[in-house]
Amino acid sequence: MNQHSTVAVLGLGAMGHAFAANLLKNHFRVAGWNRTRARGEDLVSSGLALYDEPQQAVAEAEVVLAMLADGAATESALRQIAPALRQNAIFCQMGTIGVEATDRLIGWLAETRPDVVYIDAPVSGTKAPAEKAQILVLASGDRQRAAALEPVFAAIGKGTRWLGEAGAGSRMKLVVNAWLIALMQGLAESTSLAQQFGFTPDDLWAVLEGGPLAAPYAKVKLDTIKGGDYTPQMHLTWALKDAQLALDAAEDQSMPGLQHIAQLWQQAVDAGYGEQDLSVIYRFLTGKE
Ligand SMILES: NC(=O)c1ccc[n+]([C@@H]2O[C@H](COP(=O)([O-])OP(=O)(O)OC[C@H]3O[C@@H](n4cnc5c(N)ncnc54)[C@H](OP(=O)(O)O)[C@@H]3O)[C@@H](O)[C@H]2O)c1
Repeated sequence: MNQHSTVAVLGLGAMGHAFAANLLKNHFRVAGWNRTRARGEDLVSSGLALYDEPQQAVAEAEVVLAMLADGAATESALRQIAPALRQNAIFCQMGTIGVEATDRLIGWLAETRPDVVYIDAPVSGTKAPAEKAQILVLASGDRQRAAALEPVFAAIGKGTRWLGEAGAGSRMKLVVNAWLIALMQGLAESTSLAQQFGFTPDDLWAVLEGGPLAAPYAKVKLDTIKGGDYTPQMHLTWALKDAQLALDAAEDQSMPGLQHIAQLWQQAVDAGYGEQDLSVIYRFLTGKE
């Protein structure tokens, strides 16, 4: 595949929009579709061919990237595009849709369009890294048949880790996000305790900095808590979705901490915090601005 080939991007939300923008910067031909057309319109002047229907967007594409919210949205788009996909196209699913939906879609596509290769490739990294092409792709599936994806991944990310059979990427993504969620909840609670003792987020970071507990992610989220601007890098709603996907896929009772966090984050979503960054859980816990 050369950079004059066509890549279709289905879903131009926070992440898909960044993918499309980076592909355009790297001189790919990009066809896009988003349920709410307006979210892709700013890219038209950079060369995006924006379509009203997903099957129109994929018609010329050798590679199709799907970056939709969840399994239901992805399944609906895949069913719609399947008859329109080019012979031997690559369908690359990059959203966090969990194990059950991933395995079902892999099986369905293999029966419906055996010529099309399904690559399961969720990503690690949020909106800002995606905009800077700094995400990590957790790829799985038939790497040889998907060679045309390598330059696409190179344009949207800082690296690709191939993890094995299709479905392994989605499994690793749940592992990583279970860790991220535990880290966020722990940070919110430690920052709350620090505040109860009269310490600021900066006081906490000054103690962590330079040591083994100073995760860069914690610094970013401490700064968000300090600034009080919870503009989403990752919506609390999506983080809760990922916690539930991990719990659905894990052996029963093997993740009691995550179970509790999911219950708490559900309360925060019910209280109206879902559209803000997941670090807003600090505000929910403490009532602090
Ligand atoms: N943001 C992150 O930090 C991050 C990082 C890694 C992975 N992810 C995962 O990547 C996926 C996309 O995340 P995002 O942050 O880009 O989310 P987002 O900004 O909320 O975008 C979601 C996308 O899904 C579409 N969508 C939602 N429901 C739909 C439906 N029923 N039918 C058709 N389209 C539908 C939205 O279309 P509309 O514009 O019409 O609503 C939009 O294109 C999610 O699975 C998320 O968990 C996110």
